[in-house]
Amino acid sequence: MNAVRVAVIGAGGIGGVHLDAYAALPELCQVVGVADVQLEAAKARAEPLGASAFADYTELLDAVKPDAVSICTPPNMHLPVAAEAALRGVAVLCEKPPARTLAETEALVEACRTHGAPLQFAFCHRFHEPVQQAQELIASGKLGQVIQVYNRFGFRFARAGHSWFTDAETSGGGILIDTLVHSVDIFRALAGEVRRVDAAVGTTLPIAVEDSAAMLVTAESGAVGALTCSWVTPVSEAEVRIYGTEGEAVIDYAQPGGLAYRLAGDEEWTRLPFEKPNRFIRQAEAFLTAVQSGHEPHPGAEDGLAVMRVIEAAYASARRT
Ligand SMILES: NC(=O)c1ccc[n+]([C@@H]2O[C@H](COP(=O)([O-])OP(=O)(O)OC[C@H]3O[C@@H](n4cnc5c(N)ncnc54)[C@H](O)[C@@H]3O)[C@@H](O)[C@H]2O)c1
Repeated sequence: MNAVRVAVIGAGGIGGVHLDAYAALPELCQVVGVADVQLEAAKARAEPLGASAFADYTELLDAVKPDAVSICTPPNMHLPVAAEAALRGVAVLCEKPPARTLAETEALVEACRTHGAPLQFAFCHRFHEPVQQAQELIASGKLGQVIQVYNRFGFRFARAGHSWFTDAETSGGGILIDTLVHSVDIFRALAGEVRRVDAAVGTTLPIAVEDSAAMLVTAESGAVGALTCSWVTPVSEAEVRIYGTEGEAVIDYAQPGGLAYRLAGDEEWTRLPFEKPNRFIRQAEAFLTAVQSGHEPHPGAEDGLAVMRVIEAAYASARRT
């Protein structure tokens, strides 16, 4: 099959991660363009890969005619960039959050559907091997019925307070939309669709959006989740705990190994090996393979919409006094 001609729009932090992932998959793709309003940033990323650099993403789309793009701009540009790509039939891998609001996400999905442009949302934790090991353990029945899921992403976010991340016009909100989108996607992957949401938010820093958030979610199955995150806690923590009727499992992102689990009666934890490449390479591989084969990318439109429904319900819940 022909290598996918791929471009990256937004050459900041995560744009660089997408470019590194594509560069690691030369059998599947060729990077043909990089766009960033800061042309120097686009050039610095494009030149080592022999790709063209642009300040205007529509010029990139028209000049190099990529088969696929990664959208790695701040959230306010996800819908406009996706709409232009879709108009040209270009496949889209859109960074999280899908957009600033559910309405924007619906418009983004509609643009891709109208023009038949494949769409994947970059919920990268789906491609973290221990998360997939947890899905397999649950599917095997070993954990019994999943009854509770706990997730925490906590860290001190150096850019909070002096970047677009805390300008709601650009970002759509604070840490709830920025980070809990990952948590909601992980919860859905492990426990199924969410039917009820309660949330609380807090702000410690002198910023206009929340810098800590907590969410209680209930799945259609009856499983409940407690999802918490913070930009202001000093110890970096990234953890998922799954409790079933027959055992429990832990994903600790700081551990070099994979999923650890303990079943009823076990004295020791069993730790599964963690061998596959990083989640961003696996995410890129899944996207490129879907584009090449014509299969619908996953996680796709329905996942983005479902996560944003939960995020909007969470903000509504947090606003209630
Ligand atoms: N999946 C993850 O784990 C993860 C991690 C970090 C960020 N993100 C997401 O990725 C996106 C980008 O985040 P980041 O940390 O890379 O931000 P960043 O500020 O480091 O980079 C964004 C880049 O987009 C460029 N840009 C802005 N408007 C543009 C436009 N109209 N056309 C072209 N380029 C434009 C900026 O100049 C900047 O270089 C956000 O949606 C963010 O939430 C995801």
